[in-house]
Amino acid sequence: MRMYDIIKKKRDGGELSTEEIAFFIRGVTDGSIPDYQISALCMAIYFHGMTVRETCDLTFAVRDSGDRLDFSAIEGVRVDKHSTGGVGDKTSLVVAPIVASLGVKVAKMSGRGLGHTGGTVDKLEAIEGFRTILSEEEFIAQVNKIGLAIVGQSKQFAPADKKLYALRDVTATVDSMPLIAASIMGKKLAADDDCIVLDVKTGSGSFMKSAERSRELARLMVDIGKNAGKKMVALITNMDRPLGYAIGNALEVEEAVETLKGRGPADFTEVCLTLAGYMLSLAGMGTPDACKTLAKQAIEKGGALSKLAETVKAQGGNEDLITGGMPFARAKFTREVRSGKSGYIQRVDTEAYGLASLALGAGRNTAEDSIDYSAGVLLAKKTGEFVKEGEKVATLFANDPSLFPRAEEILLGATQLGDTMPEAEPLIYDVID
Ligand code: URA
Repeated sequence: MRMYDIIKKKRDGGELSTEEIAFFIRGVTDGSIPDYQISALCMAIYFHGMTVRETCDLTFAVRDSGDRLDFSAIEGVRVDKHSTGGVGDKTSLVVAPIVASLGVKVAKMSGRGLGHTGGTVDKLEAIEGFRTILSEEEFIAQVNKIGLAIVGQSKQFAPADKKLYALRDVTATVDSMPLIAASIMGKKLAADDDCIVLDVKTGSGSFMKSAERSRELARLMVDIGKNAGKKMVALITNMDRPLGYAIGNALEVEEAVETLKGRGPADFTEVCLTLAGYMLSLAGMGTPDACKTLAKQAIEKGGALSKLAETVKAQGGNEDLITGGMPFARAKFTREVRSGKSGYIQRVDTEAYGLASLALGAGRNTAEDSIDYSAGVLLAKKTGEFVKEGEKVATLFANDPSLFPRAEEILLGATQLGDTMPEAEPLIYDVID
């Protein structure tokens, strides 16, 4: 088999066989296929797409390119949730403890942030001492003991995806439905969960800018998961505005903790309760609505907050940060961003909001960049709210004040004001099962 022939076939709109896809991913993983040929095939896939059968084959080849986890030693139903990436998206920090506090196991492998999007592992590392690397034995023992563990992905985990993603990132081929689906689901399926809830973001802060494209991606990923024998559901959720008010790692952990205390922002709380409801429902606890009520009670009765504190303690962090005895360290400098005119916030460019936080040091441009956990943006106003001239729209946090002007410029440029109150958009557009 020759890589040249595989590229030519896809370039001409052909359908690749299972063997050809397996050959490609083997070559990506062992380094035998050069970057220019990998990139050429990604571009051909970008233009011609893939059938569902091809996308499933690609996903399973990515899944099998490295270690597959075996969670059979975990007692009970295991459920996971995955977000396609957004701004201010700290849902895992809330839904995982809710679900675990109700007796359903959450053995979670999470990713890091890249570009304008954040990642759960970075947020957890904002908690001093929190270990995001555990041995497989430690991980399984912790899930069996307290119901929840959250770690990062090891180098041996779907390595083909790491290589492919790095090349897609520099060849303008990230935005391809089959490549995104295979990347996300290849990693999800390498873990060993029974049920997966996908949170497919849609809007200006997500990979998929339209609800239609998000639905298509959700349908594809749900089908791939079902093909692999998983119980699946996908929610299409609004990312035309950041979730909650906090963007940036430590700020987001604080907001997640407030939410677990019942004092979270309404939009963020609603998305968390809905996601948790579907996770519990897939795990057999009842209808999504009944499970959403259980999730709400887990916050009201304090069980979810205690579960996060227990998890933080088990993984080496200070539980007092969660239960309230100790404040989070804040960045050395703050700057208030004030509006230059009056009006309703009509719309915001959520991706740019993420980039403003990145400009303060809270994110990374490349996978190798280090990040400042205490940096970020705390919004004071969101879409639909009225702002008076000179009124505060956000507070910026950084350890280097020279970073403020750029972030302020991005943030104000991304906030569109108008005379009328915009129509409210749904928080959750659709559920695909
Ligand atoms: N997230 C991933 O893990 N992969 C993609 O291709 C896009 C988003």
